Amino acid sequence: MTSQILRDARKYEEEMERRIAGEPRPAFHLSARVGWMNDPNGFSFFKGEYHLFYQYHPFSAFWGPMHWGHAVSKDLLHWSHLPAALAPDTDYDRDGCFSGNAVVLPDGRHLLMYTGVSRETQPDGGQREVQTQCLAVGDGIDYEKWTENPVLDWRSLPQGGSKYDFRDPKIWRKQDGSYRCVVGNCTAEHDGQILLYSSRDGFHWKYEKILAANKGRFGRMWECPDFFAVDGKQVLLISPQDMMPQGFEYHNGNGTVCLIGTYEEETDTFSEEYHQAVDYGIDFYAPQTVLAPDGRRILIGWMQNWDTCNLHAPGRPWFGQMSLPREVTVKNGRLFQKPVRELERMRGEEVRYENVSFSDVIKLDEIKGRKIDMELSVRPGEEEKIYRKFAVRFAQNDTYQTSVSFKPYESIIKVDRKHSGSRRAIIHQRRCLVKGEKGRIKIRIVLDYFSVEVFVNDGEYVLSATLYTDPAVDGISFFADGQVEMDVVKYELLPVSHMSGQSI
Ligand code: FRU
Repeated sequence: MTSQILRDARKYEEEMERRIAGEPRPAFHLSARVGWMNDPNGFSFFKGEYHLFYQYHPFSAFWGPMHWGHAVSKDLLHWSHLPAALAPDTDYDRDGCFSGNAVVLPDGRHLLMYTGVSRETQPDGGQREVQTQCLAVGDGIDYEKWTENPVLDWRSLPQGGSKYDFRDPKIWRKQDGSYRCVVGNCTAEHDGQILLYSSRDGFHWKYEKILAANKGRFGRMWECPDFFAVDGKQVLLISPQDMMPQGFEYHNGNGTVCLIGTYEEETDTFSEEYHQAVDYGIDFYAPQTVLAPDGRRILIGWMQNWDTCNLHAPGRPWFGQMSLPREVTVKNGRLFQKPVRELERMRGEEVRYENVSFSDVIKLDEIKGRKIDMELSVRPGEEEKIYRKFAVRFAQNDTYQTSVSFKPYESIIKVDRKHSGSRRAIIHQRRCLVKGEKGRIKIRIVLDYFSVEVFVNDGEYVLSATLYTDPAVDGISFFADGQVEMDVVKYELLPVSHMSGQSI
């Protein structure tokens, strides 16, 4: 039985979807059906399709009482919207259905685990949000909240663990058929920690231990954990709030951190070995992953930034989009990310140039576009003499441009959207320290009207940013200070016809 609150949300989004059908949107990145979107939720493969839910406030383009929006896709790029899956309609989640994840039960049902939020009045009359973990079971469209919700509350916290910061469960099913989940939490000192829980059947949960603790290293509260094995290593993804910068690795504000190490299953012991940022750009947060049927580990994040996401005009019909889904691997203690290979099926006509040598500004015929996949291979144009700077500028006309530049002497790559059309004094540049090899660098750029994602050296570093430029502005040029030689291949990205006709 769906509640009146959910039925109202579903009716509203259906009507509004028709009304705003002509609005410009990303072509292959999932964006809010209507209203506001933040974190990806419930990323899973169920009944032959990928399901992606998201934090959703259909009634305005700003964050509000959280619902779960819902979309499905066969190839992770052509998405169809489904009716909202969850609404804040019960006592324990009346103030929001926060982030969470999903698994497929052995009996074929889809199990969602999410955070229920309800405000509690404090002795001083103020209010605080109590957070608990809850379940809903469904068939891929309609979900019934479990009668015994919440399944985890303050009684399942370690000593000092805050019931006000206890959210974003990531659930998985183990080989032996039992379940585990990790949940973000804070200590009494407001320091992040990740808690591990276990369950025989996915419904009855038991506290196990603190899986990882911040100890003051990365921001404060740790949100949106994910925990998985890949390439013989174990990865713990976290999204820490309130970070301080550390060199070129971490920046101020909310960030994403990848802890790489080993996991001893018998004792549930995670030993950290390496850490790094997941994305070095401006707009990326709260990533979560799915294990694809073919064994790939695929990651998707919210392509936004909590410190800049509230500056848009109130009348906007939609706000918020996901990143490209990315295949992740671990090599030599580092996380690599590449756009899912399905993107290559969207490649239209190829435009290719080899050994282009230049030392100033150049444009190349047919190298333009705002919905493109472009690979650049850059090297010094003169033997033994490394150029000082290389840049590619896109979404460019006489007024606007966004650029990706590389300075080999500093080994710094930078994305700069200062001239992309924003009138706000917010972050418009981000730099990342890369392992450059004597001025040789590979840069893959994916543009989808309102975003740029930059994959450096086969995905060793990724920088994502949203753009503000009119989608018709599609110029591209290259700049070199010193002599550069470069190969370029560019593809226009086109909907694949048997996948199109769907609403994204
Ligand atoms: C992260 C987050 C989560 C929470 C959700 C609320 O962006 O703050 O911790 O579940 O957003 O919308």
